[in-house]
Amino acid sequence: MVLLGPPGVGKGTQAALIEAAIDACHLSTGDLFRAAAASHVPPSPAMQAALAGIARGELASDGMVIALLRERVHCLTCPHGFLLDGFPRTAPQATVLEALLDEASVALDGAVYLQAPDAVIIERLSGRRVCRTCRRSHHLDHHPPCRSGCCDACGGQLYQRDDDVPAAIAVRLAHYARTTPALLAFYQQRGLLRTVDATGTPHDVFARAETTIGWRLGVQPPVTPARHPAQDA
Ligand code: AP5
Ligand code: MG
Repeated sequence: MVLLGPPGVGKGTQAALIEAAIDACHLSTGDLFRAAAASHVPPSPAMQAALAGIARGELASDGMVIALLRERVHCLTCPHGFLLDGFPRTAPQATVLEALLDEASVALDGAVYLQAPDAVIIERLSGRRVCRTCRRSHHLDHHPPCRSGCCDACGGQLYQRDDDVPAAIAVRLAHYARTTPALLAFYQQRGLLRTVDATGTPHDVFARAETTIGWRLGVQPPVTPARHPAQDA
């Protein structure tokens, strides 16, 4: 599956929940860029320029992000499937992904489009704090860490992403509005677009996504334990 949706709508949060449910490989191109920024290996001049743009809320070039995906093309044939989070983001990226999947004889089950109003998105982005170690997202109001500044999962240091400040958020939303209609049309034309209301708690959203995915993608819905006749007596 690919996960589509505006910055901060909850793609990473839902990917983590879906990954836990079906053990699919989760690949976030945003995480790849942040890993490059945090790496001890100095980035190439091209990557350095891309990282500076990303901090301002700009998109990386199609060429650069496609090269990153190609380096991890084996993820597309993971035995339990893959979740692409934040890729594709433009119609040219979607075309390349389609070709890579064709080459690997893998069918895309769906493009899950998480949708929420701008006010919800801005609020989610502004309160997000991410773990430097395990990259898990927290939220100051919706998912506050038990210990201030520390990740609940691994105890790592929480930080605010450079692109989660108001000026960069505005740039990201503008790019999103410009590039997304063509991307949605791409998957709509192929009958793959699955729209999910992303308002409510992460588990509300997951339940809606699971219903959409379970009905349409053939994933087995969670098994309700069979009741023993004695339980009904
Ligand atoms: P990327 O990291 O992918 O950023 P994004 O698409 O802007 O999405 P985010 O990661 O900000 O948000 P999310 O939807 O994952 O939300 P999350 O689950 O964290 O990419 C970063 C940058 O890299 C891009 O801007 C671009 O420059 C570059 N890039 C990456 N891929 C590219 C590509 N293909 N082409 C070109 N450039 C590319 O949730 C957000 C917050 O909300 C968290 O605090 C979370 O705890 C909270 N939250 C989540 N769900 C809920 C809920 N249901 N209720 C309450 N709170 C919630
Ligand atoms: Mg994310």
